[in-house]
Amino acid sequence: MTESEIIKKLKETQKERRFNHTLGVADEAERLADKFGVDKKKARLTALLHDCAKNLDEKSGEDFVELCEKYGVIPDVYAKKERALIHAFLGAAVAKAEYGIEDKEILNAIYFHTTARANMSPLEKLIYIADMTEPGRTIPQSAEIRDLVEKDVDEALIYAIGCSIKHVIKKGTLVHPDSIHALNYLIEHRRKKI
Ligand SMILES: [Fe+2]
Ligand SMILES: [Fe+2]
Repeated sequence: MTESEIIKKLKETQKERRFNHTLGVADEAERLADKFGVDKKKARLTALLHDCAKNLDEKSGEDFVELCEKYGVIPDVYAKKERALIHAFLGAAVAKAEYGIEDKEILNAIYFHTTARANMSPLEKLIYIADMTEPGRTIPQSAEIRDLVEKDVDEALIYAIGCSIKHVIKKGTLVHPDSIHALNYLIEHRRKKI
């Protein structure tokens, strides 16, 4: 699929706000690609698709349980309890089935874009950050992450994942263990660098 075909399909399957966010993440991922050592085209394509399943329930009229069955996704125990996680796991399957993506690196970056995980690939890190720093994100934490990423990508990730975990705690929802593993991995890795 060409980029314009992908964008056309996303526009049909996302709400306006989500679609604008998607375009923002694509531009941001392309802007930051060099810093993460990622190919700009791959960065842009992954960013465009990272939220491809986000509004699929409302747009398709099928709920997430039905959509998971349709695309062969088995939500883990956390995703079963926290709907916010499902769109990422489902997104990887939708990117494959509906957008023809076979590249495992791209599919993993979509799959882990909400939880993060230990030992993330450069593309996974880039998408996680760009999702939080795209121009439409105006919360103060986003400005802090934008500053940090200029100095040290992993420091930006530690801060960003920490913000996300705090947000989840504040909402009173479950913290996915992959997020804790991601944070611990980065902290341990930082210690080795010193
Ligand atoms: Fe998302
Ligand atoms: Fe997003």
